[in-house]
Amino acid sequence: MNHFIEISQLSKPEVMALLKSALSLKNGSICPQYPAIPLATLFYENSTRTRISFDLAAKRLGMPVVNVDIATSSEAKGESIIDTVKTLAAMGIKCFVIRHKEAGLPIKLAKTCGEGIHVINAGDGMHAHPTQAMLDFMTIMEQKPDLSSLKIAILGDIRHSRVANSLQCLAATLNVGELSLVAPEQWQPTVVHYGTVTDSLRDGLAGADVIICLRVQSERFSTGDTLDLTSYRKAYALTKTTLAYAKKEAMVMHPGPINRSVEIDDEVADGPQSYILQQVQNGVFMRMAILSHLISGSDSLA
Ligand code: NCD
Repeated sequence: MNHFIEISQLSKPEVMALLKSALSLKNGSICPQYPAIPLATLFYENSTRTRISFDLAAKRLGMPVVNVDIATSSEAKGESIIDTVKTLAAMGIKCFVIRHKEAGLPIKLAKTCGEGIHVINAGDGMHAHPTQAMLDFMTIMEQKPDLSSLKIAILGDIRHSRVANSLQCLAATLNVGELSLVAPEQWQPTVVHYGTVTDSLRDGLAGADVIICLRVQSERFSTGDTLDLTSYRKAYALTKTTLAYAKKEAMVMHPGPINRSVEIDDEVADGPQSYILQQVQNGVFMRMAILSHLISGSDSLA
């Protein structure tokens, strides 16, 4: 595996090996060091956790890191992304972590780059966010390793969510027992990769072991999409009352950033069932495992 673009490129054994490797890094196993493999982050969309998580992961692996400031880069002078990547590669950058609003851009870049270059997708439009799905399943499996007996619910603005796409693909690879996709009709997925769609919050959460709540992604709405936040909240917000539809100790997760008092209430986001900060913590280890796998090949996963 040369690039990390989308979940469908991974076999189940590869996913399991990455999860195992991330968990052992978290448990203190020795970090491989790659001081000769510089990494650049290229974020054309806002980010706090994903960019910093990759930055920290690469630094823990001893990699030199360059965070390209798009606003002040030569792209403001009209340079194409491909030329930016080729220019940085000529300076010796080997790994490119890219987030962009154009779905499919990471694969395009991967095809253009020469030998020895690794492209990692940190979110492309509404298409995919594979490292987020990996760290989410790491968080679930730390608590509940038998996925075949689990019901997982993904709740909210699924239509605009690249995270929801990658989660569905990973749930399929890992044979999750039941996946419920809960959204009002206007935010239901146009393509379902795995799971069953419902507009009933009560039915969707009934018996759920895990709830993954999504942000209302208004910046990805197309013109004409309207949103009545008050009625959305009334019917779909994760509150103390609606959380009780799920199993008693159901895990509450959210890829972040969370919009408090929109899709999730404080007492749920900060409550005893919340794993939101564990997701963030695990993200660094998951990205270390992925980078290490790309650089050293699958042997590093032993
Ligand atoms: C997500 C993203 O950017 O797709 N955030 C993240 O990377 N943790 C989800 C979102 O923006 O709502």
